[in-house]
Amino acid sequence: MQAKPYNAGIRGIGYYVPERIMTNAELAKLVDTSDEWIRTRTGIAERHIAGEGEAVTDLALRASERALADAGVSAEDIDLIIFATLTPDRIIPSAACTLQDALGAKRAAAFDLSAACSGFVYGLSVASAFIQQGVYQNVLVIGAEVLSRFVDWEDRTTCVLFGDGAGAAVVGRVPEGEGFLAFDLGSDGSGGDALDIPAGGSRLPVTGEVLAEHKQFIHMDGKAVFRFAVKVLGQTVEESLKKCDLAPSAIDWLVPHQANQRIIDSAATRLGTPPEKVVINIERYGNMSAASIPVALAESYEAGKFRRGDVIALAGFGAGLTWGSCIMKWSKEDKS
Ligand code: UT7
Repeated sequence: MQAKPYNAGIRGIGYYVPERIMTNAELAKLVDTSDEWIRTRTGIAERHIAGEGEAVTDLALRASERALADAGVSAEDIDLIIFATLTPDRIIPSAACTLQDALGAKRAAAFDLSAACSGFVYGLSVASAFIQQGVYQNVLVIGAEVLSRFVDWEDRTTCVLFGDGAGAAVVGRVPEGEGFLAFDLGSDGSGGDALDIPAGGSRLPVTGEVLAEHKQFIHMDGKAVFRFAVKVLGQTVEESLKKCDLAPSAIDWLVPHQANQRIIDSAATRLGTPPEKVVINIERYGNMSAASIPVALAESYEAGKFRRGDVIALAGFGAGLTWGSCIMKWSKEDKS
């Protein structure tokens, strides 16, 4: 394989979650559920919910401003914006374009990326390719969601799971031997019906009947997605470790998608990663889809957990079905 002209990695990172916190006790007033059921089956205690009129690009703007400040670059330095989300402000224009304007990223190209909960890892891989080939110098990758607008608040099997938030990373050139070492991405569209929003696209436009049937909301076969996730989460990390000749024992930090504590535990057990090396924040945020991984990453960095040179494994899975993982060597100095 040809040598890559440049090394790509994360140069700045930031996150933002809306102020309002919704506890399990509040949910128990809306649907037939309990704090005990939600905690033991999922690990979730509370989630953040966007305010009235607050859309996904509003959250992303704040996360992006923090990522730019952390990287020490200005909005005008950004060449490309990749916005991973399943909850854009509108179908068109893309959330990426709305953000490009709000941020003042005058030179940037911009597009949305649809890979559900794997979206941020997919986005990093695209950014990495552009940086490595020397096409761009600064790519802003966002994972952000306002899932609360797409959740059926009458369906206890889904409404207890999700939350809103945004994470952003500036991807750029980093010193040799640091940054992204390998990616593994995959999909299995045959499982598409296991987790979907049936209406609002070209297959099933929104009508009064569709709205009455709640088909504009997230539908999920929880058990099917659970089985898929338990299989694929550890597997994809093993695949990307192989690509950069590292053993699972090399992982300093595992930052998985935060969908269910039990899914995370099973992947960590498979990889032999001890609990103190696994980043888990599902208790406070629930499942924020594309935002879960970048929020967990940014929060850990801000808490001073990462040292320069640490091997970090990111791993996601979600609707599509999709999955993706990334092995990187942290190239930033300690935040603490
Ligand atoms: O990022 C997107 C990917 N999504 C996921 O990764 C989700 C993967 N799936 C899961 O995390 C789990 O399947 C769930 C948390 C969604 C469900 O947990 P489970 O252990 O698979 O529960 P279940 O669906 O088998 O339901 C067990 C029981 C059922 O009652 P019966 O049939 O045994 O009487 C459900 O009706 O729990 C009931 N139930 C609830 N009870 C109280 C389902 N939701 C609730 C609820 N509160 N919120």
